[in-house]
Amino acid sequence: MKRTEPKTTCVVGAQWGDEGKGKIVDLMAKEADVVVRFQGGGNAGHTVVVNGEKFVLHLIPSGILHKSRCIIANGVVVDLIQMLEEIDHLRGRGVAVGKNLILSDRAHVVMPYHKFLDKLAESGSGKIGTTQRGIGPCYADKAARKGVRVADLYNPGFFRARVRAMTEEKNAIMKALYGGGPLDADRIVEEYSGYAERIRPFVADTVPIVNEAVDRGKRVLFEGAQGSMLDIDFGTYPYVTSSNSDACGIPAGTGVPPSKIRRVVGVAKAYCTRVGEGPFPTELLNATGDRLREVGGEYGATTGRPRRCGWFDGVASRYAAMINGTTEMAITKLDVLSGLDEIRFGVGYRLDGKTLDLLPTDTNLLAKVEPVYRTFKGWSEDLSKVIRFADLPGRARIYLQFLERFLKVKVTMISVGADREKIILRT
Ligand code: IMP
Repeated sequence: MKRTEPKTTCVVGAQWGDEGKGKIVDLMAKEADVVVRFQGGGNAGHTVVVNGEKFVLHLIPSGILHKSRCIIANGVVVDLIQMLEEIDHLRGRGVAVGKNLILSDRAHVVMPYHKFLDKLAESGSGKIGTTQRGIGPCYADKAARKGVRVADLYNPGFFRARVRAMTEEKNAIMKALYGGGPLDADRIVEEYSGYAERIRPFVADTVPIVNEAVDRGKRVLFEGAQGSMLDIDFGTYPYVTSSNSDACGIPAGTGVPPSKIRRVVGVAKAYCTRVGEGPFPTELLNATGDRLREVGGEYGATTGRPRRCGWFDGVASRYAAMINGTTEMAITKLDVLSGLDEIRFGVGYRLDGKTLDLLPTDTNLLAKVEPVYRTFKGWSEDLSKVIRFADLPGRARIYLQFLERFLKVKVTMISVGADREKIILRT
């Protein structure tokens, strides 16, 4: 086979998730032959508005709304119930789901005991504020080599033995630590064998499929979930998700080597939000924070939780740009800032009389820092009809140009409303 220069792009979050990646992926998926999810699972919630109709996708790549081939790769943890519900829901709304969706046989399955354990762990002290979708316990079993992979579903003897052993182990843990359970292993086997049959047409080894697409010069789009500051290695540990939720997750999560990743689009809101526990230095616990939440509709797509809101954290997003090798930025929800007298941008942190320009690794220290801000004059114009950068209010342009200089990455896309067409493209 003749190899062509890869035409790969990845879209990753440059904050703590919920940056509006769904809309950017949707826009880019129009031109993508293949769209690949490489990490996370049903904890993600990607909202896409098409002709005023809202779609919220959790597991299936947003590319399903286009003609792209969609791949749920090996790095994803799959809740089969959720996947089937999502397929039914999409089909019910007239979206074709068939040969255009492929699930990796190496992906790990989120089992009922993972969801139970996630919920039980979150009911006590030391909670992370997870989405309670079983993500952490499933990845923990994967690393402990106690997981169930999609391929295992089709090996009945092995599957039954594994589920029995795991259910016995988890029942003991649930009882001892939380007084919860027990779950019935044989019922789980029966139920999941049924789901296995329903998902069978979608299952394949996705590693050669994605690599072949890359090598043939097909346009392959990697769709990140969550955000870089929630990455298990580089985020605000332990208040993170359990996967590499940035471009670092692509090679391990798909089998596509790092040398083949070309364009890296970092997505950030023009301000910042976070859900769940954990430090958030630029958080606004005041009327401005409440205003951002209401105007920005900042409620979780997966859990409905109100999001914590604050100013753009340049330190966090610059760090994200470094680890992702970001080649361009997409800034979303700029319209939400209209009407504010002044807008702040976090340029550093103060800790014990010193100024820091990097996040301290120790999350306890990060929780103590005071943000250092640069303040910009706000604008009052409605941005929702602006389609050219030059037509943005001067003060909005000044803000974005500062952001570009601070992150050392060009802003090529600016979203000014939820609909597909409300976007400013810059070359
Ligand atoms: P988990 O991924 O459900 O284990 O949750 C771990 C942390 O990641 C929590 O703070 C969640 O709120 C956060 N999180 C997980 N998925 C998302 C997402 O899609 N957007 C924003 N935050 C998320």
